[in-house]
Parts: sequence; C-alpha cells; structure tokens
Amino acid sequence: MPDENRVYIFDTTLRDGEQSPGATMTREEKVRMARQLETLGVDVIEAGFPAASVGDFEAVAAIAEAVEKPVVAALCRALPADIDRGYEAIKNAKRKRIHTFLATSALHMEHKLGKTPAQVLEMAEAAVRHAVSKGVEVQFSAEDASRSDREFLVEVCNRVIAAGATIVNIPDTVGYAQPAEFADLIRHLLATVAGAGNVTFAVHCHNDLGLGVANTLAALHAGARQAEVTLSGIGERAGNASLEQVVMGLVTRPNYYNLTTGIVTEELFPSCRRLSGIIGQPIPPYAPIIGRNAFAHESGIHQHGVLKDRRTYEIMTAEHIGRKGAVVVLGKHSGRHALDAKVKELNYKLTDDELKIVFDAVKELADRKQNILDEDIEALILEKVLRRPDHYALQFISVHCGNVELAPMAVVKMIVDGKEVRQYASGSGPVDASFNAVCEAVGRKPELEEFHINAITGGTDAQGEVTVRVREGDATSVGRGVHDDVIMASTLAFINALNRLAKKEGDRICPQL
Ligand code: KIV
Ligand code: ZN
Repeated sequence: MPDENRVYIFDTTLRDGEQSPGATMTREEKVRMARQLETLGVDVIEAGFPAASVGDFEAVAAIAEAVEKPVVAALCRALPADIDRGYEAIKNAKRKRIHTFLATSALHMEHKLGKTPAQVLEMAEAAVRHAVSKGVEVQFSAEDASRSDREFLVEVCNRVIAAGATIVNIPDTVGYAQPAEFADLIRHLLATVAGAGNVTFAVHCHNDLGLGVANTLAALHAGARQAEVTLSGIGERAGNASLEQVVMGLVTRPNYYNLTTGIVTEELFPSCRRLSGIIGQPIPPYAPIIGRNAFAHESGIHQHGVLKDRRTYEIMTAEHIGRKGAVVVLGKHSGRHALDAKVKELNYKLTDDELKIVFDAVKELADRKQNILDEDIEALILEKVLRRPDHYALQFISVHCGNVELAPMAVVKMIVDGKEVRQYASGSGPVDASFNAVCEAVGRKPELEEFHINAITGGTDAQGEVTVRVREGDATSVGRGVHDDVIMASTLAFINALNRLAKKEGDRICPQL
C-alpha cells in the first residue's frame, strides 16, 4: 500500500536548474551532482533533456548508469523523435521515467505552438502512448497549467491518464499563481479528473513572484504528492522552488502538513554547497536555511535568548541540515589516512593519484594556514582534481601594485591550447591588470559582469573564494577560483570562466526550452 502521506521529491537541478544563467555543468560535474542527490535521498533525478544536444544526451546516459536508487527521468517534448532519444539516454538506468510535456494555456497553444486545443489533446495523448510503449513509467506535464483554462486542463489530464501516464504534473511555468488559488486548482483536479486517485499529481513552481516554495507547499497541503524542486532554487529566470526550503517546511511543521519525504536532511547543506562549488555561484549569505546568516544572531536580545535556549530564535538546528560549523579537521602533521577518511566522509571518490594531489595541496596550504577545515578540503578537491581539462591554464602570475606612481602591472605565463604564452598588461588595479594580461594571452576580451569575493573560513589566513561572471556577445559563463592569495583566486576564477566559455561553444544543437 503506498503511503498517502509520503511526498516524492523530484529534483530538476540538472535540467531546469541548469537552465539558470551561468549554471552550465559538464557531464562529469552532473554525474558528481547526481551521486550527491542520491545520497541526499531524492526520489527522482531529472537528468536532462537528451534531444537538446549531444552533450545533454551523454550526460543523461552517464547519470543513468551512475545511480541506483533514484528514478532517472529524461525530459522530452511531445514528439516521437524526442521520446525515442530520451528513452535511448535512460535505457540503462535501474529505474527510469520519460517526462513528456506540452503547453496547454491558450497563450502558449496559439502563439508558441500554433496549434488548436484539439490538436494539443491529440499530441499529448499520442506522446504518452508512444512513451508508454517503451515500457517505462511516464510523466506528463501540462506546461503553463496555472494559466490554462480549467476545463481544458481537466480534459488534458483525463486524456493523458487514459493513455497511461501515471504522474501528472501541473507546472506554474511563469511563477504567476498565488498559493491559495494554486491549492484550489490542485483540489479541483483531484476531485474532477477521471482516475485521479490512481496517479500522482506533481507540481513544478517557478519563482518569478518569489512564491515558488509557497505555491509548492500549498499544493502539497491540497493533495499533490510530488514536488519538483532544485537545490538552492536555481532554475530558469528567477528559479524554481528550492528543495531545501520545501523539505524543511514539511519537516519543521509536521503538525501542519503531516507529510514525509525520503530526504536525509543532514545532506541538505553539503548538497547545496557542492552545487555552489560546481557552478561557481556562491550561496547568498541571506539565503534561508543554507545562507551564512541563517543561524547567526546579531541582536543582543536574540543572542541572549539563544544562549539560554536555542529554540527561542531557531526553528531548526544547523546540525539537522548538515551544517557542522567550523571544525578543525587537519593540520600540518596530519597523515594521508586522515585525509582519505575525510575525503570519504565528504562523499568524494578519489583515486590514489588524486588523493596524493589533494594531500600535497593540503600540506602546502597547511604551511600558510593554521587550521584546515572541511570547506578548505572540498575547495582543494574541486580546484585541483575535479576541474575540467582546461584550454587555458595559468603557469605563473606576478603582480605589481601599491600606492606608488607606476600603474598596477601584471605578467602572466599561460598554456593556451597546449602552447606557452607570456603577456603583461597594466590596469586600474591589480585584479584589472591580471585580467587584462590573461585576455592578452588568450586573445579574448569578455566583459566582466560580476565579481564576488568571499573568505571560505574565518581568519586573515582564510582561503579567498572568487566568483566572476563574464559575457561574450550572447554567451555568459561563471568561473570560480580559490586561493589564499586573493589576486590568484581572482585570476583563477577569470580563467575558469574563460574555459567554460570555450567549452560551451558549439555544444547546443537545438534551442533550449
Ligand atoms: O516550467 C515548466 O513548465 C517546465 C516543464 C518542462 C515541466 O520546466
Ligand atoms: Zn520549469
């Protein structure tokens, strides 16, 4: 008997999340993230949109082989060729799902699809039948459902369920719905759609009005049983409902929702932190649950209360979501076994050679920094081992700056597509000079749109973590660099962004959704 209070967590970080500007991931990065999602306990991983590009197809196929417990879903338009391609990508997964979608609002049907409602009904039904014929479970999404005519939406649901879909998703595609209204829509569908009791109703809420989480929770309260979410809420435009907020809403308010999930909450923060490391976008300090400030108490009255009893101002504990605080893990004299154990605890699988690289880097850092924390080790793993093979690599940089008359100046030696190149340049400051020298060396001149710097841990010897966003024409990319010298961290971040731009070129073969 299925548990009627169990909510299924459908994670779309690797598909809708990846549509977030600058969040492109390589195949290897997606596989690493998928393994972490499995550890986190998500029920479904939407691994990508295989018909979009060869890169997407290969990433979905690799994820299908890499995980065991979660269902691996492939997104497909309601077209036989997309569905065939989607099935090919997931066919080796232990548990698989085809997720096909078609827009159902008058606006989308007329202006985007150029189809009549009758044609849309035909297409939706045919797509589901085709997907079912592959022998996998099938999910249908009525894109822009929240702006669709209710009667027509009921008709669409009836048809796709009759055709064999067992999960029906009601997306608030443009983040337009209001919580009470959206809950009412779910109740209406549950009461009206034929066979509603035999399928799972899902919701997929975007955050354009900041209501993604509120709408998702309202829909779950009304009877939906699958939440489509992303880590840190990344996704198209303003993003999707955030996984950690939806889950902690349910966990923190059992008296209100009486709903459970399979999420291991202690893996929430490590998962978001890992995503942030991979896509090179820092977690904002004010982000609920995972932000640096979420458990910080500034006002004296609050501090006083928390010291007496944490529950006065904390509705959940940092430990519950896997934030252990600054624990000293290794020092100058720690051995390889200690590092090996720590790497496993952080959920990374490294070969002996990779472990040696990280060990040497930890020793080198320990000469300059007294305490090496989990965050330092994770940053070194990402930086030294897991970073993609680069077109551009820095060999050395020397920077001159200060309040003397000479303009700040940087000299770099780089490997550019296998060849050694030396260049120098001046700039308005040391970072500007370094970036100019790198641009001279690689022969590109992107616009720097964003620059963020953050100390990974406390103390003046902390490693600096820099993230940058650059733009070349329509293409943007984000890069991240970590070093205890902030100019080095900035230069590494800039070069990382250039490498991502170079990798993106020519990757897509069909327009994104
Ligand atoms: O936002 C949306 O409607 C989607 C669908 C493809 C589910 O992402
Ligand atoms: Zn979406």
